[in-house]
Amino acid sequence: MALILGDFIWVNVFTALVVVYIVKYYYSWYTRENPIPGPFPLPLIGNLHQLGLDMGKGAVKLQKEFGDMFEIYLGPTRAIFISRAELTEKIYNPTLKNNEFSLRTPSNPGLEELHLTETGITFNRDLNAWKFNRRILNLTVMSPKFMRESVKFTNQICDELEKYWSTINPNNKIDFARWTSCLAADIIVTTSTGTKGYSMADYINSLPNSIKVKISENILGESLKFIESMYMFISCVMFYFSFPPFVRKFVPVIKTMYHKYRDNNIWLNAELDRIICNRKREIQSAPSDQPIENNVLNLLITLNTEMDTNKITGIDYSRPLTNIEISCTLKEIFDAGMDTTRNVMCYIMFYINKYPQVKDKLIQEYESIYGDLSKKLDVTYESLDKLVYTEAVINEVTRLIPPLPVFMRAATFDTEIGGYKIKKETTVILTKFEINLADPEAPLKLSYHGIQHCDELYMYINQKSNA
Ligand code: HEM
Repeated sequence: MALILGDFIWVNVFTALVVVYIVKYYYSWYTRENPIPGPFPLPLIGNLHQLGLDMGKGAVKLQKEFGDMFEIYLGPTRAIFISRAELTEKIYNPTLKNNEFSLRTPSNPGLEELHLTETGITFNRDLNAWKFNRRILNLTVMSPKFMRESVKFTNQICDELEKYWSTINPNNKIDFARWTSCLAADIIVTTSTGTKGYSMADYINSLPNSIKVKISENILGESLKFIESMYMFISCVMFYFSFPPFVRKFVPVIKTMYHKYRDNNIWLNAELDRIICNRKREIQSAPSDQPIENNVLNLLITLNTEMDTNKITGIDYSRPLTNIEISCTLKEIFDAGMDTTRNVMCYIMFYINKYPQVKDKLIQEYESIYGDLSKKLDVTYESLDKLVYTEAVINEVTRLIPPLPVFMRAATFDTEIGGYKIKKETTVILTKFEINLADPEAPLKLSYHGIQHCDELYMYINQKSNA
């Protein structure tokens, strides 16, 4: 009897707390200052259920209903979506001084738990640390010595790719989505860590009736696990960002996903630390007269050491990087580089298939620079400057379909857009153009696209290339 009474009290207390929470939630929502049109939110999840997993598609739907400026809740976070160019001027202000939107996101417990608000670039809220990390990126990924090395790596990967293509049984249908993600992953893993990625080899081996690539199971397993873990980290960032700590940690199903992501982060951090320590040892024990390879990891390890010819001066960061800083930079490169590179490749192939005359002009440009295309091409860093038409094609494609579905910013102080007051720390999300994939011949229509749309591109390209 005592137990039943105890349970009864607990249930009542719990119900009362839930009711108080819901009343408080809707009271704050109804009395919010300066409301902007938008869908009705639910406690804890906000409008995530209306936005869906593909933010692009969800936003298009909401834009049709609520107009070019509407507000929604990403969990507890209020976000204002804007899809009209004249409203974006303030947000794109390139200066740092008095910039009302210099931060990418408001303070967010998920990003804090992942330590992304004090490390790296994308979500860093400490402007001095951000400046330093931008410098690091310029001195590594954007340095001519890395560019040269990456052309060498990319040539090797393309040779490998051609070798695989020649062994594929013509009856096999290529899953373009998987293939491009493998290609992007191999390029990024190889150029950033100096250790070859093998996801393309694995994909070829998975095709029926193809000639199998011979590779040790251990090496293949390690490479695939690392790449899978990096991809998982990318979805983990969105997951941590979107779900508030309580939902993440206690709501069934979501809690299971949280544990999966958390375990992956523990594994990935330990693996990156192991890779960095091993490479440090290799660099230290290498003969001093032997040049080291200019992959990103080596450049990060030697930055600001006696081996560095471009030491950072003038700001408070003239010391070498810690393992954690190196690891965060590598994760950021994967995070920012894999899906973007893969999607751009898809969009370019889509348009080249759609406009064969563009493909012919590209081939002419390659023949004029590299000669007979049936022979091995000598693609050098210097020769890239001559690819004027190729660059124009890339620029035009990324103009037509920007590969990032959204740009996110947070107000750094109280401001105003389109006559609406925007409070400090409010998230502002800018939307883009979308191609009408249902009818590839139709003119582009103004709206918003999501990475998921690539699947439709892949299908379209698959049909074309198998035709
Ligand atoms: C074709 C591939 C890529 C495309 C289309 C692309 C596109 C973009 C765009 C549009 C932004 C600005 C986002 C914003 O303003 O919110 C951005 C930012 C960024 N990208 Fe990329 N990106 C690509 C590849 C890469 C790669 C390979 C890296 C790795 C080094 C990278 C690292 C970054 C970083 C760190 C930022 C944040 C910069 C900052 O906050 O100042 N991206 N990228």
